[in-house]
Amino acid sequence: MLYAEITGWGKCLPPAVLSNEDLTTFMDTSDEWITSRTGIKERRICHCNFSDMAIVAAQRALAAADLEATDIDLILLGSLTNDSYCPNTASLVQDAIGATNAASIDINSACTGFLYGLHIGTNLIKTGAHKKILVIGGEFISHYMNWARRDVAVLFGDACGAVVLEASEKETGLLAAKIGCEADAKYAIQITNLGSSYSRLSEDFLYIDWNFEGQEVFKRAVKAMSQACVDVLAQTGLSVADVNLVVPHQANKRILDALAKRVGIDENKVFVNVHKYGNTSAGTIPVALTEALEEGRIAAGDYVLSASFGAGLTWGAGLMKWGERTQPLSLSDATLPPCDKTALEILAPHIKRYTERQPA
Ligand code: ACO
Repeated sequence: MLYAEITGWGKCLPPAVLSNEDLTTFMDTSDEWITSRTGIKERRICHCNFSDMAIVAAQRALAAADLEATDIDLILLGSLTNDSYCPNTASLVQDAIGATNAASIDINSACTGFLYGLHIGTNLIKTGAHKKILVIGGEFISHYMNWARRDVAVLFGDACGAVVLEASEKETGLLAAKIGCEADAKYAIQITNLGSSYSRLSEDFLYIDWNFEGQEVFKRAVKAMSQACVDVLAQTGLSVADVNLVVPHQANKRILDALAKRVGIDENKVFVNVHKYGNTSAGTIPVALTEALEEGRIAAGDYVLSASFGAGLTWGAGLMKWGERTQPLSLSDATLPPCDKTALEILAPHIKRYTERQPA
């Protein structure tokens, strides 16, 4: 039987930090409100293109697996904030890293995009259709933000992460997954004024805004992620006690606490970095996985549970069994172009545009 071992991992965080205090300089909010409601203290703001982050994360993951880009036969990239609608971002990554033997697919499933990609990639390897796959997840959400909306803008940040999957006969990688979608509640997270359902003649076209029903998302996120965790554990015959670490989507510390309580897992077993980066949507899980490995939180043979929830409303959970290696085989010197601005300086024109003009 074939499995899809995770042999490489990497992250890319843009250097510009936007703190809660920075947000208070242009919107009516406070560090106290943001910290108590979400656990977020700061987030990163990208100064280049989304694909630049994806390319660096991919190169770091390839180095960790000690593979050449030409070894990769498929790139799956989860994101909703691409450089362009056409070509897709997976193609931009393929070209930039020289993965000339890889097919390139974007997955637009918001925060769940990485987990969906991990599930799809794992199963393509298990069937023998592909042998070496790069799964990337990330977001340049600051580019798609309405910076006059304090209820949404404080929640998100920019980042990207990637893993390499390789066919293996050892029982390793994603052993079970359960993914789904509550599309009846798709209204709860919508990016508006972009796409063919919005009239090109409207004054608001391309004036990006959000429909965001935070409390509805919160309740559904906890319920769907915890049920999906219970389902994947049942598929594998494992119990909560067998899980060594939970690496969940990082949307909100309160969601993570509620998830741990509902699944019955010790909160010390839940990896948390939302305070540093906010919700980076499809980027949260691969970045958190990479940091969990860097911090020695994952050992050989560990069972790692993951869960996610996002626009759609998409949801999912997966149970991974870690392989023998927790250290990268080599390191990449890939890096983002230099950034000579603060986060507030990068955002200044966007903040001005959104605060000076409200939609009709
Ligand atoms: N600063 C200060 N006050 C604020 C802010 C802010 N940034 N944002 C909203 N408020 C105010 C509101 O206006 C409201 O004031 P009012 O009572 O006078 O009307 C008050 O704070 C309470 O607002 P609520 O929405 O009730 O706050 P809540 O406790 O529900 O927290 C939050 C909101 C943090 C958004 C929470 O509902 C949440 O985390 N939801 C989940 C969101 C999420 O992360 N989803 C992930 C998926 S996103 C994706 O897939 C792309």
